[in-house]
Amino acid sequence: MRTTDKLALDGGSPVRTSPLPWELPGAHWMGEEELDNVIRVVRARSPFRYYGPDLQHMADKLESEYCRRLGRSYALAVSSGTAALNVAWAALGIGPGDEVLIPGYLWVSCIGSVLRSGAIPRLVDIDGTFCMSPADLKAKITQNSRAVLFVHMSGAPGHIDQVAEICRDKGLRLVEDCAQANGASLNGRQVGTFGDVAIFSFQLNKNISSGEGGMLVCDDLAVYRRAFAVHDLGYPRTAGRLDTTDESCQLWGVGARMGELPAAMALAQLAKLDSITSSMRSAKWKIRRQLEGIRGLDFREIVDPSGDSGCFLITLYPDRETAVRFVQALRAEGIQGPPGSLVCLHMEEWGLHWYFNNVSLVRRRGVCPDGWPWTAPANAFAKEYLYGRGALPCCDDFASRAALLTIGSRLEDRDVDDIIQAFQKVAVHVLKKV
Ligand SMILES: Cc1ncc(COP(=O)(O)O)c(C=O)c1O
Repeated sequence: MRTTDKLALDGGSPVRTSPLPWELPGAHWMGEEELDNVIRVVRARSPFRYYGPDLQHMADKLESEYCRRLGRSYALAVSSGTAALNVAWAALGIGPGDEVLIPGYLWVSCIGSVLRSGAIPRLVDIDGTFCMSPADLKAKITQNSRAVLFVHMSGAPGHIDQVAEICRDKGLRLVEDCAQANGASLNGRQVGTFGDVAIFSFQLNKNISSGEGGMLVCDDLAVYRRAFAVHDLGYPRTAGRLDTTDESCQLWGVGARMGELPAAMALAQLAKLDSITSSMRSAKWKIRRQLEGIRGLDFREIVDPSGDSGCFLITLYPDRETAVRFVQALRAEGIQGPPGSLVCLHMEEWGLHWYFNNVSLVRRRGVCPDGWPWTAPANAFAKEYLYGRGALPCCDDFASRAALLTIGSRLEDRDVDDIIQAFQKVAVHVLKKV
């Protein structure tokens, strides 16, 4: 097939006819190791982590591995990434009267967790990395700012080092959301090592998965103790049992413990994390390098390609119309996944990843029936804050003219070649007028 052949969208033959694999990086690597761990827990009849007849300590081992990998003092396994965020704000003592600076390209959990804490989210624009812009962060800090949530979006960190420095200078707490970038790094420093607290998710779309699950890491014992109590039932445990006697730690819990079964899976998956990210990174960068230089086709800025976890390729087009047509043409060429998967999207289709699609934010829906925390007197400072489309020009621009391709974690050479060929073919037709 030549790149000048008629587009499949216009009745020509597609580059490929079989679907690309589902995204879901960790899922493609599940096998005997996960099975063995899960079987051990079931055979031991001990699926609860804090006591049981024959504890296998899967959650303990998972936490130790996180501490070891990241060089952090404490790790706490929880039931999801969302739960980890909820726990993080409570552990850091964030609440009414505080504002948390969040990027406009994120996930709904980031916003919801801030509001559940009683604090107010304040939007910060992104830059070419698709992560929070340090320059806009500086411009958005107010006297109410208490914390920053830096989200390592779509597999790679942006300028987290600069954001960490701003937080240090301004006395702001920094939470890193590494849900979408487990295993990524920036100039040799792993994500999850920059913030006061960092969180991870093991949901099915993530680089490693146990279906559901999450992790919180930190270095401060007081933060860890609060996080522990909050993730459970509000109190520490002694020998596996709730201990209400410590007056410095009598809180309310959210019931977000991790069970031994997801821990067993996540532990086996963690041993494969570097292989998974290395497979995605090499496929992604092979594709990207072949496409660099095509006029009218641009890419998300990746500060350190060697630390990219590789799960997404984001491309940019001159305008919305071209981006939409490019994606339609790619899909017609067979660059799509099985029904129900995502694989190839115009970024406006990326739902709750964009601030303006979060209707509960745009309409300032409360956590409680009375509208709290928006209605809390301590939060009156946020009355004029804007959340609808138009609030963040870079987010709005990128959402309209960017496309997203998920990179399978076990792509065959043939899949990679087809993706390259399809992009080149579509570019010849769709970008020729650009
Ligand atoms: C950036 C980000 N933060 C947080 C989460 C929440 O993780 P979970 O689905 O495990 O609750 C996700 C995952 O969906 C995410 O993409």
